[in-house]
Amino acid sequence: MITETIKKRRSVRKFSNKKISDKLVKDCILNATLAPNSSNLQLWEFFHITDSNVLHNLRKACLSQNAAKTAKQMVVIVTRKDLWRSRSKSNIKFLFKEFKNGSISKKSHEKAKTYYNRIVPLLYSEFFGLLSLIRFFLAQLVGLFRPIYRQVTFIDKRIIAHKSAALAAQNFMLSMSYFGYDTCPMEGSDTLRVKKILKLSSESEINMIIACGIESHDGVYSKRFRVPFENVYNYI
Ligand SMILES: Cc1cc2nc3c(=O)[nH]c(=O)nc-3n(C[C@H](O)[C@H](O)[C@H](O)COP(=O)(O)O)c2cc1C
Repeated sequence: MITETIKKRRSVRKFSNKKISDKLVKDCILNATLAPNSSNLQLWEFFHITDSNVLHNLRKACLSQNAAKTAKQMVVIVTRKDLWRSRSKSNIKFLFKEFKNGSISKKSHEKAKTYYNRIVPLLYSEFFGLLSLIRFFLAQLVGLFRPIYRQVTFIDKRIIAHKSAALAAQNFMLSMSYFGYDTCPMEGSDTLRVKKILKLSSESEINMIIACGIESHDGVYSKRFRVPFENVYNYI
């Protein structure tokens, strides 16, 4: 049951010496790619690290925190908002195939094509930050008279890419939990060094570094704590 898997997942800071299967971790990364994501642009990449030298360097870049020191493998989720053009093209190609085989109507196909050919470039194109500024002021102006999409700046797009990647991270961690494996997402890291170690492009941004393994007997530091549900639940 989904609730069981959600309750079972904890952030594990100490992993046992037991090995974990590359294939199962890869399967969980495949599940990560099924996460909902903005405009289905899939502006992400996944790095599955099993190499002992790279793991050694990553441990240091993760500030030698316990989860990193004992991790058997690591998964690094990276955002790639620079890939919006090629991902748009992939969507267009896929939708054309779907239209040709009769899975989607001409109208839906035309609408989707307009979305990826016109709307996405309108939102994602950049020219030294100038287009972001123009979009921002236009949205403010039009927004005075009618509802308008306001997440139009360079920074908004970074946030959007990170939101989608975080959903992928959760898919990954829940899948790992389902298969009896444990994880710890780690914000505490030197992301510049991580990028260097993984030889990432300058446009790549580290979304989440996830330590993976099987919990040691003292791997979970305390009982789970959440503020009272009534404090965060608003029924309208
Ligand atoms: C974005 C993010 C960053 C985190 N960074 C760290 C970290 O650097 N080190 C760590 O030990 N735990 C880290 N955690 C784990 C949280 O501390 C943990 O999720 C929280 O205490 C709740 O515990 P639970 O995951 O066991 O339910 C991070 C979690 C998230 C979502």
